[in-house]
Amino acid sequence: MTIAVTSASGQLGASVVRQLINEIGKENVVGIARTPEKAAHLGVEIRKGDYNSRQDFDAALKGIDTVLLVSGMDDPEKRIQQHRNVIEAAKQNGVQKIVYTSIVGDETNTAFSPIVKSNRQTEVDIKESGLEWAIGRNGIYIEPDLEYIDHYAKDGEIRNCAGEGKCGYTSRGELGYAYAQMLLGNEHNGHVYNLVGEAITQATLADLINEVYGLNLKFNSVSVAEYAAERKKALGDFMGTIIAGIYEGIRNGVNDVPSHYEMAAGRPHRAHIDIIRDFKKA
Ligand SMILES: NC(=O)c1ccc[n+]([C@@H]2O[C@H](COP(=O)([O-])OP(=O)(O)OC[C@H]3O[C@@H](n4cnc5c(N)ncnc54)[C@H](OP(=O)(O)O)[C@@H]3O)[C@@H](O)[C@H]2O)c1
Repeated sequence: MTIAVTSASGQLGASVVRQLINEIGKENVVGIARTPEKAAHLGVEIRKGDYNSRQDFDAALKGIDTVLLVSGMDDPEKRIQQHRNVIEAAKQNGVQKIVYTSIVGDETNTAFSPIVKSNRQTEVDIKESGLEWAIGRNGIYIEPDLEYIDHYAKDGEIRNCAGEGKCGYTSRGELGYAYAQMLLGNEHNGHVYNLVGEAITQATLADLINEVYGLNLKFNSVSVAEYAAERKKALGDFMGTIIAGIYEGIRNGVNDVPSHYEMAAGRPHRAHIDIIRDFKKA
């Protein structure tokens, strides 16, 4: 069985490729990347694949049995057709199964909802493709908070608009493990899984970071409008709006969902404190 992973040059794609190499050996894994040279370090065959190009995927999916479609990074309205290019190419080129990395969240009410909505449309497109399928809805990655730790330490606070809302965080390492199992096991076909760890508040996240890093961060919650204005100033309109929308969703409770991680991975999700400890060591 040959398994291909799209966006293999990215951190999630690379995590899945590494896990698949462990499970089935590098000769059975193909990475597909918009920028192939950025994926060369993975040590597997790399083929070119830009989501904007149906032709790229007609070539890249030749001889592939199962493909992981990692959701794109473009504007939500562009993503739907980009993902369809991969789905259509999979159908035309004899791929038997498609696994998709979707996202936890709600389709209305926040500035992040257009992205969730575009992911839900791709879920429908995949279910209607006639291929075998499995879908993961990813929780929020914990790593970006840890990469931001110097800023938190300087400010003495984690500041956002999540209030008391709980968020089922995950990590790219945990997702890489779960997606490898979903690609390999037929028992996952026809399932939609929430791939999240324990749901925690921002105050608990601050406590965990404090314990591992020896800090004394406080969590300060601000209004959605105030936080959106701050983030847009710092990150520009597109990313600022997305980030504020994510924390608004957490405030509204949309990231506090039941976890299906163990069903997907065959083992429990790792504890957040252990993931944070490993991140610090690395
Ligand atoms: N759950 C979360 O918290 C969270 C956070 C951020 C993103 N996400 C979603 O999860 C996905 C994977 O995350 P990540 O950590 O791997 O992000 P990442 O490390 O930033 O990688 C993004 C990947 O998307 C690829 N890409 C962008 N546009 C593309 C296109 N037109 N055609 C093909 N590939 C394209 C990039 O290719 P190049 O190397 O050519 O640039 C890169 O491989 C993201 O794309 C996004 O949809 C989720």
